[in-house]
Amino acid sequence: MIPILITGANGQLGSEIRRKAGNYPGMSFHFTDIEELDICDAKAVSDYLDSNPVKFIVNCAAYTAVDQAENEAEKAMAINAGAADILAGESDRRKIQLIHISTDYVFDGENNRPYRENDPVSPQTIYGKTKLAGEWPGSTPELMKAWSRRPIISIPLNKDRD
Ligand SMILES: NC(=O)c1ccc[n+]([C@@H]2O[C@H](COP(=O)([O-])OP(=O)(O)OC[C@H]3O[C@@H](n4cnc5c(N)ncnc54)[C@H](OP(=O)(O)O)[C@@H]3O)[C@@H](O)[C@H]2O)c1
Repeated sequence: MIPILITGANGQLGSEIRRKAGNYPGMSFHFTDIEELDICDAKAVSDYLDSNPVKFIVNCAAYTAVDQAENEAEKAMAINAGAADILAGESDRRKIQLIHISTDYVFDGENNRPYRENDPVSPQTIYGKTKLAGEWPGSTPELMKAWSRRPIISIPLNKDRD
């Protein structure tokens, strides 16, 4: 069984993974949200991974209140960038594969075609800026080591699709 940690598992993406988990009997999912594992708490993350040596982490935890983020930049930055750093550092140290989710908000929204991974970023909102800070190589040494390019994963949240 491949052990996989899902953070922020009560959110939209985490709930979709939870819904599909039964289709993957070779994987054992550890579903956590902030009550079980606050990813902003470096010691809690380290302790959790000591007790649960997973092979993969899918980071579904995020601050996603786009409008509210304009007034809560610090909180949004702590979750979307600071906690991403913590997970990246632990993943690198423990050789865990970390999957982190990007967003179209890192772009300027002016394109009339779907964005590509290597399009120039230009976030227009605090939310977009905090998401970019959590993923762009160069933001911290930990992140630079942990991933070599911006992680873009498109997420079909439509219930009828697999
Ligand atoms: N949904 C989309 O359409 C979409 C599109 C593009 C990209 N994304 C990206 O996909 C990822 C998941 O998004 P989502 O829509 O599933 O977000 P979501 O529904 O807001 O879920 C995020 C989850 O993380 C939890 N959380 C917040 N702070 C935490 C912490 N410190 N430790 C652990 N858990 C914490 C939240 O709990 P609370 O609710 O209690 O705060 C919530 O359950 C994000 O990176 C987002 O940027 C989503």
